Amino acid sequence: MTFTVPQHLEIEIDELVTHYPVKRSASLMVLHALQEHFGWISEGAAEWTAKKLGLQPINVYELVTFYPMFRQEPVGKYQIKVCRTLSCALGGAYGLHKQFCEKLGLDAHKHGPQTTKDGKFTVEFVECLASCGTAPVMMVGDKLYEGVSKAKAEEIVGGCK
Ligand code: FES
Repeated sequence: MTFTVPQHLEIEIDELVTHYPVKRSASLMVLHALQEHFGWISEGAAEWTAKKLGLQPINVYELVTFYPMFRQEPVGKYQIKVCRTLSCALGGAYGLHKQFCEKLGLDAHKHGPQTTKDGKFTVEFVECLASCGTAPVMMVGDKLYEGVSKAKAEEIVGGCK
C-alpha cells in the first residue's frame, strides 16, 4: 500500500522545513505533523519523511523508536494515559489502570498500549506527567485530570462519546 500525504499537509510540511538551517533538523517537527494528521507513524510515513528530508529511512526510524511520544501503531480516538511514576503509583495509579482496562475489555496485565476492538479507546501507562502533588494523575488526549478517584475515572470514560 502506498503512503500518501494530502496536498495541504505537504504544503504545511514544506513550509515548516524552511524554518530550519538544514532539512534534517526538521525531522521531529515533520513527524509530529504527520502523527497529528494520521494518528501514528507508519512505515510508509517514516519512509516518506526520510525521502522528503533527504535522509535514509533508518535516520527516521531511530527517532520514531527512541521517542515514546511517537506511535508505531494506530491508536484509539481517546487515548487514556495513566501516570505510574512514584507519587501516582502510591496514589492508586495501578488500580485506576485496572479499572479502565476492565471497563473497556482490555487486559490489565498486558505490556504497552492497548486499543479496544472498536478503535475508540487506547489505554496505557506513562511516566511522570509533572503533577506529582495531585496524584493520581492521568490524561485523555491533551487534557490532564488530577486527583482521579474511581468515581471520577467512571465519569471520565462516560464523558468520551
Ligand atoms: S508521579 Fe504522576 S505526575 Fe509525577
